[in-house]
Amino acid sequence: MRVLLVGGGGRENAIGEALVRSGAELYVVSKHRNPGLVRLAKEYGLAKETDVPKVLEFAEKWGIDIAFIGPESPLEKGIVNAFEEKGIPAVGPTKEAAQLETNKAFARSLMERYEIPGRKLFRVFDDISGMRSWMDDFGRPVVVKPLGLTGGKGVKVVGHQLRDNGEAKAYAEELIRKDGKVLIEERTEGVEFTFQVFTDGKRVIPMPLAQDYPHAYEDDKGPITGGMGSYSCSSHLLPFVPREDYEKALETLKATVEAMRKNGTPYRGILYGQFMLSKDGPVIIEYNARFGDPEAMNVLPLLKTSLLDIAEGIVDGNLGKAEFENKATVVKYLAPRGYPLSPVRGVKVEVDEKAVEDAGARLYYASIDESFTLLGSRAIAVVGIADTLEEAERIAEKAVPHVRGELFYRRDVGTRESVEKRVRTMREFGREFEPNSC
Ligand code: GLY
Repeated sequence: MRVLLVGGGGRENAIGEALVRSGAELYVVSKHRNPGLVRLAKEYGLAKETDVPKVLEFAEKWGIDIAFIGPESPLEKGIVNAFEEKGIPAVGPTKEAAQLETNKAFARSLMERYEIPGRKLFRVFDDISGMRSWMDDFGRPVVVKPLGLTGGKGVKVVGHQLRDNGEAKAYAEELIRKDGKVLIEERTEGVEFTFQVFTDGKRVIPMPLAQDYPHAYEDDKGPITGGMGSYSCSSHLLPFVPREDYEKALETLKATVEAMRKNGTPYRGILYGQFMLSKDGPVIIEYNARFGDPEAMNVLPLLKTSLLDIAEGIVDGNLGKAEFENKATVVKYLAPRGYPLSPVRGVKVEVDEKAVEDAGARLYYASIDESFTLLGSRAIAVVGIADTLEEAERIAEKAVPHVRGELFYRRDVGTRESVEKRVRTMREFGREFEPNSC
């Protein structure tokens, strides 16, 4: 079967590998030639992922049977609608359904209308004085968000990027002037986790939970990035997420898929719930309409079921099972020095792939071209997989020195200390629980 993968990051390298492992004949279109995907692909086309007509042209030339869309930006452009119009099924939500990620006001209103559990109090404002007087009445700390896609960079939280609600009002005013609208939510205290599921619009099949490290620097300091690494546990839970909260979060995702169906915007593909585990249970922070990056690299190497079968089940509306190995995983991303604010670009790095393999780790390429030149975003991920988190972290750490160049990474991703810090934080927010082993 000829499968077209759209996108060329670390997430897509992991998707491509899982597809080839399932027996797919892989074709790729992305804006740069990812060295990992180049080896897996039968043909490789260069185009912006958002240039839908160009991507379609490649698909028709290659006689593609099914497409798999990696990133969110082509979903926002309606790439799935365009493929379906040409009779090519595509894994990913339509433009209308992808609004769960691309339009935060849509997502929040849907949750409200269908009373989806785990929702937050929110308001959307287009007038500055209305926003200011609501904030004065509300009085509690808030989160200010742009409505559309911002690559995770536009969200600001009181107590973190914003000192107080006074600064929140100023930032919200800036967004109204720029975008015409702003989303303001109550702030929730807790610890974040990632819950990804496959769905054919009716059935919802869970993947192992993962935890992302979005801050650039160790000890959760510095600017927010796409994610500097992530880990998952052999139990498929996380140390600070008890089974009952896992079940509640799964209920939220199931209720979301059901609501999308009732809303006339059926959702098919991968649904990513970014949850905050608060003292009262899991709360949705964001939805994403695709795999997480790096979280795809936690779950896909563990997938025992054929990803191609899952892809066909999603587009045909008869999704079956998805089984994952019971292993722990640690992903560490190496990013160019200065990322995300002023990353080094255009310089080469050296990768000793054999030594990485000998260390027992996997390697996924991202924002780096075939000549191993850095393109400015997260460049290479190393992944340790083992029975325990300690062992998986040790494997990833052993692989890192075999990638050399103007790069940095977070040593603390997946370490026992950083995981214990999250367990402590959960307790400080008033939750008593016995941590799950990992
Ligand atoms: N790791 C966060 C994301 O994929 O959006």
